[in-house]
Amino acid sequence: MKPTVAPFPTTRLRRMRQSPALRALARQNVLTPSDFIWPIFVMEGTDAEEPIPSMPGVTRKTVDRAVIAAREAHALGIPAICIFPYTSMDARTEDCALAWSPDNISNQAIRAIKDAVPDIAVMTDIALDPYNINGHDGFVENGQIVNDRTVDALVKMGIAQAEAGADILGPSDMMDGRIGAIRGALESEGHQNVTILSYTAKYASSFYGPFRDAVGASSALTGDKNTYQMDPANSDEALRLVERDLNEGADMIMVKPGMPYLDICRRVKDTFGVPTYAYQVSGEFAMLRAAAQSGWLDGDAVMMESLMCFKRAGCDGILTYFAPEAAKILNG
Ligand code: PBG
Repeated sequence: MKPTVAPFPTTRLRRMRQSPALRALARQNVLTPSDFIWPIFVMEGTDAEEPIPSMPGVTRKTVDRAVIAAREAHALGIPAICIFPYTSMDARTEDCALAWSPDNISNQAIRAIKDAVPDIAVMTDIALDPYNINGHDGFVENGQIVNDRTVDALVKMGIAQAEAGADILGPSDMMDGRIGAIRGALESEGHQNVTILSYTAKYASSFYGPFRDAVGASSALTGDKNTYQMDPANSDEALRLVERDLNEGADMIMVKPGMPYLDICRRVKDTFGVPTYAYQVSGEFAMLRAAAQSGWLDGDAVMMESLMCFKRAGCDGILTYFAPEAAKILNG
């Protein structure tokens, strides 16, 4: 039922906007550092960082530097950090065996961070693309990205991450059946309390370009990801995917990209009411950063506004490369 509202001048909506105090009382949503998951890129080596040209201000870090980043995040009140590996071209193979090696750079980083900063939650990425010679998230056979054999590999990858101490597994591959398969393996192998944040409504988006530079997948990728990631034209399909992933044992679900897909965030939250996250992806970060660097936008202001919009759209949290910068502002 629509409430009746007295007409002007009885109702003057500007009354509640007239001072910071009244605006604070009327404000529906808040943003805090505890809303953030900070994605970081890790690489081999010691005591070094490499800039990523298409993501100004973001670097690839060696594991010891990733530990420093985790300490900083924890001190800022950021509850979780998400690790993405940079794999050198010669370590990428057709069988992707490095993906489930206990000693790959991602698993090294999980162990080092959990050892040094046990209270921060460590999230992972489950997909074959950083290890795959052709840049795809799944195995390629005769030009097709095959589903079921990929799922078996993803399970091995997830178990290796759980064994390294990961708190949150992040399957980002969009194969069918992977959540149930990973959940089943976690249950049977003694990792009942490891959570899954499923990249559930992950679209085949061109906003991932800078990320693919960061993990070195841009030049490796042959073709596109349209046979497994979602069509940007679809909305109902996102709800079917969320229902499916919840039934298979996901604890949290994600919409990705973020800002162009806020309608999906809202539909998912309204329909299911489960912990819902958005990924403000590399291309969104790059757009805002580039405009700020050109002096065309106020960088801090659009960063904070874009993050608040995810809360308004119903998200419980945001994966964002801005996490430490935004947390510093929020902490004063
Ligand atoms: C790969 C993966 C991608 C991102 C996260 N995991 C890229 C892709 O699907 O090609 C994108 C993140 C970003 O753009 O910030 N499994």
